[in-house]
Amino acid sequence: MSWHATTTIYQIYPRSFYDSNGDGIGDIQGIIQKLDYIRDLGFETIWISPFYSSPQEDFGYDISDYYNIAPEYGTLQDVEQLIAEIHQRKMKVVFDMVMNHTSDKHPWFLESRASKDNPKADWYIWRDQPNNWKSIIGPNGWQFCAERNQYYYASFLPFQPDLNYRNPEVKKAMFDVCRFWLQKGVDGFRLDIFNCIIKEKDFKNNPFSLFHIIPSEEHPGGNFQIRKYSLNQEENFELAQELRSVMDEFNHPPRMLLGEVFGGHDKIKQYLGKKQDGLHLVFLFDILYYKFNPDFFRKKILEYEHHYPAPNIPTAVFSNHDQLRSIHRIGNHLEKAKLLALLQFTMRAVPCVYYGEEIGMTNGKISLKNGKDPMVNIYSWVPQFIADLLPVGINRDNCRTPMQWNNQKNAGFSVAEKTWLQVNKDVEKRNVDLQLTDKDSLLNVFKKLLHLRKNNQALHSGKIEIVHTGNKNILAFVRSFEEEKLLVLINFCNSKVTVNINLPIKEMVFSIGQKNGFNDVLKGFSGIIVKL
Ligand code: GLC
Repeated sequence: MSWHATTTIYQIYPRSFYDSNGDGIGDIQGIIQKLDYIRDLGFETIWISPFYSSPQEDFGYDISDYYNIAPEYGTLQDVEQLIAEIHQRKMKVVFDMVMNHTSDKHPWFLESRASKDNPKADWYIWRDQPNNWKSIIGPNGWQFCAERNQYYYASFLPFQPDLNYRNPEVKKAMFDVCRFWLQKGVDGFRLDIFNCIIKEKDFKNNPFSLFHIIPSEEHPGGNFQIRKYSLNQEENFELAQELRSVMDEFNHPPRMLLGEVFGGHDKIKQYLGKKQDGLHLVFLFDILYYKFNPDFFRKKILEYEHHYPAPNIPTAVFSNHDQLRSIHRIGNHLEKAKLLALLQFTMRAVPCVYYGEEIGMTNGKISLKNGKDPMVNIYSWVPQFIADLLPVGINRDNCRTPMQWNNQKNAGFSVAEKTWLQVNKDVEKRNVDLQLTDKDSLLNVFKKLLHLRKNNQALHSGKIEIVHTGNKNILAFVRSFEEEKLLVLINFCNSKVTVNINLPIKEMVFSIGQKNGFNDVLKGFSGIIVKL
């Protein structure tokens, strides 16, 4: 099986991971210093959010030079060293690739916006008259540009103009960017908002819908519009295949594409290609908004098996740099977080963990008014108490606070007087040093699960089958690979339950909250893995 199908992914938001030079901002050398930590936890792949040159209006998701590094993060040499050091530790590294748009300060856009007849005039999406398309974060996506007396389209924020992939020069330029990094040895790319990448050619208006107010996974964007013509077009799936062939030019070792795509499964599975010749993986964000009950997860497992049967492989992601931290959904409850980790590393999926999730870092409490995230400009009219109640974060600073390494100054993240975002207050119990020494900590649960998964083919490559226990509080499934069979049992409720399974149990290989083995009884909030 190719590495992308069996791997485990750790996401780093470089600005917040580790500051090696004391300027209050995380950097590449900082990541290098922490690679042993990630390797020892047991992760096999590291995905790093963007660190290319950028005016940092969207903290790197607005790139102004794809071939260079933002000075606060380091140099090209640092990045080369980073790739080499990750490989030395037998891990893979995936970079973020923002192909959909550039910064409005990128020289391509500066040229494009200057006139209607310059060589890059058609590199972005220009129209005399806008249609009704809204961006994927809500408001109108068209922005007026006085120099051209025209509008350009931006799927995300106004300073992130969308490139025009109907222009072959654009495609070539961006594929060359990918080739540049592939040549440097990067193992793959996480593709930013890839579902937006090509728009309907005639710019047909999107349908109005009274029912699509709040953005949902099935209908991204909300705000009374179905993004029928601005998202998930047939040509996007074809572009995924073309990009795949660029990756395949560099097959030694094989590389990987992981798409950030939003939409219903019928749409987004098409990015994988009918013959597994598109993207290797897509994020499945519907599970990110989980409900902590076994029914929810049972249905998701079945749904994923239906839509992404082997050799496809689903992903399991509960947090990232755009969302409220996962642990918030379970009331910051560390025991429940352990059970979620058990599920995340044992269901048939590639687990993707956001930095700090392993220590149960909670959301920051930075108000909309003090937010650095550019999204707060769009939502500044939302009263703070409403923002606090929303299931989605509209000030993404709160999931981007500095990593908590210890309980010293700035949680050990930086020696600076002021860090770019303030360190969260939950640092006393939720820091790496403390949890490394506590054998029952969340961090050590992650570590044990990661090692178990690596050493058991059933867990990283096996089939999955739901087991019915007759008890509605229990999620049970078997992972199997040839003769190897592992049963996972998770008790989602706070009280002990009796479980009758007519399966021959050999030994317990892992447990949470269940010290004395398993005799048909599972304690409250406990979970186990047993060999069959
Ligand atoms: C993606 C990124 C997000 C960024 C946006 C625009 O959703 O995850 O952080 O702001 O795209 O690039």
